[in-house]
Amino acid sequence: MSETKRPLSALEAKYEAQKIAFGPIFFQAIMAMRKLGILELICKNRRGIGILSICDQLNLSEYGVRVLLEAAECAGAIEYIDENTVSASMTGFMLNSDPMTNVNLNFVNDVCYQGAKYLPDSILKSKPEGLKVFGNWPTVYEGLSQLPDLVKKSWFEFDHYYSDEAFKEALKIVFKENPGYIFDIGGNTGKWAMACCDHNEKVKVKILDLPGQLEVSKKNIEQKGFMDRVDFFEIDLLDTTQLIPEGADAVWMSQFLDCFSESEIVAILENVRRACSKDTWIYILETFIDNQKFPAAKLCLTGTSLYFTFIANGNSKMYSIGAMERLVNQAGLRVVETFPLIGDSYHTVLKCKINV
Ligand SMILES: C[S@@+](CC[C@H](N)C(=O)[O-])C[C@H]1O[C@@H](n2cnc3c(N)ncnc32)[C@H](O)[C@@H]1O
Repeated sequence: MSETKRPLSALEAKYEAQKIAFGPIFFQAIMAMRKLGILELICKNRRGIGILSICDQLNLSEYGVRVLLEAAECAGAIEYIDENTVSASMTGFMLNSDPMTNVNLNFVNDVCYQGAKYLPDSILKSKPEGLKVFGNWPTVYEGLSQLPDLVKKSWFEFDHYYSDEAFKEALKIVFKENPGYIFDIGGNTGKWAMACCDHNEKVKVKILDLPGQLEVSKKNIEQKGFMDRVDFFEIDLLDTTQLIPEGADAVWMSQFLDCFSESEIVAILENVRRACSKDTWIYILETFIDNQKFPAAKLCLTGTSLYFTFIANGNSKMYSIGAMERLVNQAGLRVVETFPLIGDSYHTVLKCKINV
């Protein structure tokens, strides 16, 4: 994570190692400062605020505020103007109000934190051993609709934060071919289906997903009044005997294939290929690890891979664009066009066809 190019001295390396050793505690210090309103109050007072004033306004002990502030200074979130006055650093402002930082902090705290301890077991068993902190499901996807409310909220906010932004541009890419019937594989809460129906008044969409998520998407589609244009298909794509139906003009898979191992991806894409004709367009929307504009994006995606290991399913990750193309080819498909980093997002669309 260090950006330093020259080799570190032993002293510097020892400091870097301590950042990792105490990292989880500093993370919790920042979460506590957010929860108690300390960070927000400091950020509101751009020229600085007295420590006793923080204690008074938030009804907190001086001891409690001071230990957190000392931790926040080490973490680079605040600066001391003098012994009794602090102000937020740029990092502090990000931790307080940057939307991407907000969804990531909540996702790590609520979804990942407890389960992360089970990372060694998860790697040894190729199973998401950390998931047991929430329930006994083989993967997180069977349990999504039953997760505790706060965990569910943070999971969906994380998922939607990234896909929502990409959907606007992706709609233009998909509708260039004027599809009449789109199959949304892993349609989740129905967001893409609803976005399609809003975008085009004639299009029909089939959502394919596990039963728990289909229930959720059905409710949302009903509320939006799109039941006449959206239908639902229950399927477990890990069971290769369950076949994707035929009849799609376009097959859409958004932030979906990263939920599977390489061999599972090939099997799913073979299932897709079998259901498609030579005229069907197949779209894969993913955040690829190796074509990001910002170092922060690569860091987040690498961290997300570990979430897949200990919470989601124990065998998937965020892939490189080259790896995904290789799997697409292995399944008898080909990438016809690539739309890298669409909109202002982190996503790439691979537009594919089956080989005939
Ligand atoms: C990370 S979410 C992506 C949701 C949505 N497409 C988006 O872009 O926000 C993955 C979706 O795949 C579904 N899924 C996971 N495993 C599945 C399986 N074995 N069969 C069918 N759907 C599955 C999940 O229920 C979930 O809705």
